Amino acid sequence: MPTSLTDTTTLHNGVKMPWFGLGVFKVKEGNEVVESVKSAIKNGYRSIDTAAIYQNEEGVGQGIKESGISREELFVTSKVWNSDQGYESALQAYETSLKKLDLEYLDLYLIHWPGKDKYKETWKALEKLYKDGRVRAIGVSNFKIHHLEELLKDAEIKPMVNQVEYHPHLAQRDLLAFCEKEGIQLEAWSPLKQGQLLTDPTINEMAKKHGKTAAQVILRWDLQTKVVTIPKSIKEHRIIENANIFDFELSAEDMNKLGELNKNERVGSDPDVMMNGFVD
Ligand SMILES: NC(=O)c1ccc[n+]([C@@H]2O[C@H](COP(=O)([O-])OP(=O)(O)OC[C@H]3O[C@@H](n4cnc5c(N)ncnc54)[C@H](OP(=O)(O)O)[C@@H]3O)[C@@H](O)[C@H]2O)c1
Repeated sequence: MPTSLTDTTTLHNGVKMPWFGLGVFKVKEGNEVVESVKSAIKNGYRSIDTAAIYQNEEGVGQGIKESGISREELFVTSKVWNSDQGYESALQAYETSLKKLDLEYLDLYLIHWPGKDKYKETWKALEKLYKDGRVRAIGVSNFKIHHLEELLKDAEIKPMVNQVEYHPHLAQRDLLAFCEKEGIQLEAWSPLKQGQLLTDPTINEMAKKHGKTAAQVILRWDLQTKVVTIPKSIKEHRIIENANIFDFELSAEDMNKLGELNKNERVGSDPDVMMNGFVD
């Protein structure tokens, strides 16, 4: 079990990725994102998850620079947006993201959504970036088992990560087992169901028992199910609270109770519905 914010999981290519990081979806470009990134890094976070579509890569880059932490100590993720899928356009999108972030390389670059019929071409572009040493790890996001099976038929390099919606209402057991079998690290987006899970009575009762908050119980569940997690907050006290999960353990009974909350319910789009990728 990870015992601190800087503990890492080793991806199948040997790259070490922190189990815990900051998400910046819906964080405004400019001061808001600069300050949340700086606050996270100041409080020990070493992993930041952004995407081209969040339109805050410049601020993420500025926050990183102003944090004073050396680039090698950080793990930075971005994603190819749907309209940039395809070989040449994905290669170009990577350059654009690097330029905005003002970084020489990313630690992880993901295909944001599978879409319908371009993800194999896009994957070839990510493989090229990886083989050329431009990015330390490549992966996918919002891929279901059938997308992964299809991708793996032709992939030269297996994705190192699959970032998907994951929380106690969407426990994704089959996908987690599939990814474990294939050596693909699962990563949770919207781990707090965008805040909707924080009033759940079972979780709050458990939090009280452990002297923790509902958010901390959920984020600890991510770690105990071996899933990387990247909660978003723009408030420093919550950035600190969310990361304070290394000093308690959920029992087998707690884990079972949390498991019973699953209802396959999403807060975001279903990857099969977002076929052409222009839903949100
Ligand atoms: N790959 C994808 O398709 C995809 C999709 C969605 C998200 N993501 C990534 O995953 C990250 C996390 O997901 P998310 O941002 O959708 O949702 P989330 O992390 O589940 O929840 C964020 C919401 O919870 C609030 N919050 C955070 N910590 C809290 C706490 N301790 N107590 C009370 N409220 C708290 C935040 O408000 P405040 O900011 O006001 O604290 C915000 O409204 C994103 O930021 C993004 O990097 C990826």
